[in-house]
Amino acid sequence: MYRTHTCGELRIDNVGQSVTLAGWVQRVRKMGGMTFVDLRDRYGITQLVFNSETNQELNERANKLGREFVIQIVGTVNERYSKNANMPTGDIEIIVNELNLLNASDVPPFTIEDQSDGGDDIRMKYRYLDLRRSCVRKNLELRHKMCIEVRNYLSDLGFLEVETPMLIGSTPEGARDFVVPSRMNPGQFYALPQSPQTLKQLLMVAGFDRYFQIVKCFRDEDLRADRQPEFTQIDCEMSFVTQEDIIQTFEGMAKHLFKTLRGVEINEPFLRLPWAEAMRRFGSDKPDMRFGMEFVELMDTLKCGTFPVFDNATYIGGICAPGCAVYTRKQLDQLTDFVKRPQIGAKGLVYARVQEDGSVKSSVDKFYTPEQLDALKQKMDAKPGDLILILSGDDTLKTRKQLCELRLEMGERLGLRDKNKFALLWVTEFPMFEWSDEEQRLMAMHHPFTHPMDEDIALLDTNPSAVRADAYDMVCNGIEVGGGSIRIHDPKLQAKMFEILGFTPERAQEQFGFLMNAFKYGAPPHGGLAYGLDRWVSIFAGLDSIRDCIAFPKNNSGRDVMLDAPAAIDQKQLDELFLKVDLTEENA
Ligand code: AMO
Repeated sequence: MYRTHTCGELRIDNVGQSVTLAGWVQRVRKMGGMTFVDLRDRYGITQLVFNSETNQELNERANKLGREFVIQIVGTVNERYSKNANMPTGDIEIIVNELNLLNASDVPPFTIEDQSDGGDDIRMKYRYLDLRRSCVRKNLELRHKMCIEVRNYLSDLGFLEVETPMLIGSTPEGARDFVVPSRMNPGQFYALPQSPQTLKQLLMVAGFDRYFQIVKCFRDEDLRADRQPEFTQIDCEMSFVTQEDIIQTFEGMAKHLFKTLRGVEINEPFLRLPWAEAMRRFGSDKPDMRFGMEFVELMDTLKCGTFPVFDNATYIGGICAPGCAVYTRKQLDQLTDFVKRPQIGAKGLVYARVQEDGSVKSSVDKFYTPEQLDALKQKMDAKPGDLILILSGDDTLKTRKQLCELRLEMGERLGLRDKNKFALLWVTEFPMFEWSDEEQRLMAMHHPFTHPMDEDIALLDTNPSAVRADAYDMVCNGIEVGGGSIRIHDPKLQAKMFEILGFTPERAQEQFGFLMNAFKYGAPPHGGLAYGLDRWVSIFAGLDSIRDCIAFPKNNSGRDVMLDAPAAIDQKQLDELFLKVDLTEENA
């Protein structure tokens, strides 16, 4: 037996017991004739004591232990003279009488403590060491608990977990596919699922009624803090349901997770915001509602002046940052630079300070009368000490998105994006289609299997851009944590959808024949949703990036720096797969 107890287990009640522990050496401290060793495992840290007066040889061996050595000790539990209230095992220590070295360790490349000195790259390269840090390990423990809660919750509601294949054909979800060449079918490729969307719909045709799966999904898209090329969905589908049924079921699940994993009781129904309203008030389909600073439209208020920049504007909007009139010129220049960054792309920033006497001092004073500026203050409902920030542009959607970035930045600066506060809502009534400049055609905003809202079906023939989808996203603190829709189950409507999306009947048949054929055999009305598991865990754990709740994540270039993947493969493997790699200059 390697151990009688773990390193997080012993308490004052165990005093006097002889115990055997095994673990990693966190730290060795010498104090006079005593040596103290912090022994660590997944469960905690226990202090070991070696005394040179009682056993000099053992004490000398303890002094030679290095960080991360793996040892086993036998000793007696002793009440500590100076207790450590910050550690669960802080009331006791072990007086060691036997020490076995199980394995030595090289000096680790960074300190394995919560406040590590290791930068991102080095921690990712040695992720197995990074995972020894309790702050990282806790995230994976939370992830495990969440999976258990999800499985129990859904299983209790009659959902069946069914695995769907990883080697499938392409499913269009807006991102690029990761593809896998087939040796047995030369020149042909599988695609890894961007989501099990069509397969779960087929499970509904098969009569499974309620399906879920905690499933890996793969998307070859640009990475961000909340995006990984492989990530995990809690994927769900239900038959004979309306949007309301799905919202009730999954809002219930979100509340259950908050209660069991965060101890947060949410009793009220989540807010529901139609997409158009979310865009108008916050410039985003995933508004962070932990704070206000809502947009105020200023076309009528500001077009009256002579400021030439506003001449061609189709949108002028402002936000009111409370108490920020004290911002210095330098701070305002920083904000201007922030909105002008290429990622945001605004041309400039107009600001107006409301002075203590109520008068307004702005960057556009010479283009407006004091009365006009006062009207701006009234419209913005700004108080003395507030700062009004204004953006304009000739593309309304784009300008609103820019103002959204500015609002989030101000929320951040003002400390309003508190990680311990949760603002949840559903965004509904998404547009069915969005125009793609790249593809020069309408694209499905959610996916091509989404049902239009019943009252908009007639518009499919006359004005498809105005059609709203029977789709919904769940948003928490400005992050899309889940999304879904009621699906089309009528093969004729599905065929029409493909036609609007620019598929010829032949291509639609070639790519989606399997689904349209299945719909001919009694497809029930159905709908569903998928939650992003990584995003939920990172919100619950208060993380800045989903990477920190994934055991072995990829970096921002999609690389696994520990495994050094992706990498070239042998010529033999290429030959077997009938592949030729062309890295000539224009391709590389
Ligand atoms: P959607 O594409 O909205 O819908 O994805 C569902 C949820 O998955 C999470 N997510 C991601 N998480 C981490 N990294 C990524 N790259 C990533 N992409 C998406 C988000 C998102 O809300 N088949 C549909 C669902 C349905 O209609 O039922 C789908 O995949 O939290």
